[in-house]
Amino acid sequence: MPAALGLGGCDVWQSTAAPVTFGNSRHGAQLIARSGCGTCHEIPGISGADGHVGPPLDHMAERTMIAGFLPNTPDNMRAWIKDPQAIVPGNAMPNMELKDDEAKDIAAYLYTLR
Ligand code: HEC
Repeated sequence: MPAALGLGGCDVWQSTAAPVTFGNSRHGAQLIARSGCGTCHEIPGISGADGHVGPPLDHMAERTMIAGFLPNTPDNMRAWIKDPQAIVPGNAMPNMELKDDEAKDIAAYLYTLR
């Protein structure tokens, strides 16, 4: 499976993650607080976000995979935030009814977490 070979290399990942400058991370932080992501996730910088249903979202900018499964690219992150049930059906994270732009801003905030 040659396509999977690059995934293990942190250097490869960092060179693709570094130029992520899309979305409005401040707005993303507000959306995260409002949407209740913190009832399930520990999220640095979001007050009251200390849930333990899902994994903590610290260092999200530096992770290779999303949900242990999806390569951590901005597009995949946006897709996950919008529709996690389509990606891993039956997992405990509900679809939060977010718009495209909202998912993008939330992803932008998560990518500030190094
Ligand atoms: C009801 C609980 C719940 C809520 C609310 C929730 N999540 Fe999740 N989330 C989960 C669970 C459980 C997982 C792990 C899914 C898996 O690995 O299959 C997860 C996984 C994730 C991941 C991947 C984490 C990783 O370590 O790879 C991200 C990113 C994420 N959630 C972001 C969000 C955001 C942003 C919100 C708010 C819009 C949110 N979640 C709301 C439960 C929740």
